[in-house]
Amino acid sequence: MQIETIEIENYRLFRKAKLTGLPRMAVVVGANGSGKSTLFDVFSFLKDALAQNITQAVARRGGFNELVSRGQEGPIGITIKFRESGGRLATYELRIATEHGRAVVEREILKFRRGQRGKPWHFVDFARGRGTAITNESAYELDGVEEQRAEHVLDDPSVLAIKGLGQFKQFRVVAEFRSLIENWHISDFHIGDARPSAEFGYAEHLSTYGENVAQVAQYLYEYHPTIFARILEQMRLRVAGVSQVEARPTEDGRLVLRFQDGSFKDPFIARYVSDGTIKMFAYLVLLYDPKPHPLLAVEGPENQLYPELMHELVEEFRDYARRGGQVFVSTHSPDFLNGTKLDEIYWLAKEEGFATVRRASASQLLQRLVAEGDLPGALWRQGLFEGAGPR
Ligand SMILES: Nc1ncnc2c1ncn2[C@@H]1O[C@H](COP(=O)(O)OP(=O)(O)O)[C@@H](O)[C@H]1O
Ligand SMILES: [Mg+2]
Repeated sequence: MQIETIEIENYRLFRKAKLTGLPRMAVVVGANGSGKSTLFDVFSFLKDALAQNITQAVARRGGFNELVSRGQEGPIGITIKFRESGGRLATYELRIATEHGRAVVEREILKFRRGQRGKPWHFVDFARGRGTAITNESAYELDGVEEQRAEHVLDDPSVLAIKGLGQFKQFRVVAEFRSLIENWHISDFHIGDARPSAEFGYAEHLSTYGENVAQVAQYLYEYHPTIFARILEQMRLRVAGVSQVEARPTEDGRLVLRFQDGSFKDPFIARYVSDGTIKMFAYLVLLYDPKPHPLLAVEGPENQLYPELMHELVEEFRDYARRGGQVFVSTHSPDFLNGTKLDEIYWLAKEEGFATVRRASASQLLQRLVAEGDLPGALWRQGLFEGAGPR
């Protein structure tokens, strides 16, 4: 399953923006305040809306008036086109408005195109808690079959139909889309948080801020020893002075990593290891995850890492996406960009307070220069990504 297009309307600085032709790995560049975090927040918003409801997801972001683009009344719109695992293109459309001061679903549609000629099938079509859903979902691939619909009333106009309609649990495409959004994961390491004291217990995935890295390491060590060995090997190769990394469980069940280089008696990720070492370890733990997130976003992976390591990191992100997901990365690093292809780069610029989105591959100038041997990061540094300069 892969997202191909994201369209955002009236969501903070995205008054009207569209990202099309999304590849497995998309890299977002743009100056501070150009909308990188907000773009990722659109997915977090959908995830919150699914877990709770629209009213709460909006409230968590300061309320409708704060969330809607300045000077606009709304509705807030999010449209996602994705290719489901059966290869068909589906569209999920959500519009949010207010009703008596409360954010509600103005319209929610999940539709499919049927072949070249056919009218799209609206699997789900709801407005303010009422609507219809298809009842013969399994027949949609058959030619000449008409859709059959049933009316439904949801408990609440702020609940998403794809959540509120129990019977959709069996509908493959709805279940797929839900699971994509529910498993959206954003990674934004803060080194301070990633220095926990090692604790008991397991975590299978690295948390957003990386504070459970020791637990995930312990999980990998016990249940995926081959992967753990690969991570250690990569650490040894990449972190200067680390000639050998050794993992040893203590009697009370914690995992202690020792670095041959110094006398680190404390568990790894404790006080004596450099920021870059922790960060690299955390990235390896994230990216060598045996069960990749279907949608992963990473903010600024370059911080604290040595520029020469960027190239491998880009490859590892691509690999992660290839193994079963889709990855979005925001970056300020020319070295990271140098490892990417033009059609992986989306660049954000702010014009009169609102974000514009451009694709690097849409620029003929950039295409030509790259064909002549220039690297994207170098071109970006030279200011050729208009409005998205490093400074
Ligand atoms: N409702 C809104 N309407 C217009 N702009 C907004 C709204 N809410 C926040 N912003 C602007 O969005 C920007 C936030 O961008 P952000 O996604 O954090 O950028 P980045 O992550 O690229 O640094 C800020 O400049 C802020 O002023
Ligand atoms: Mg940001």
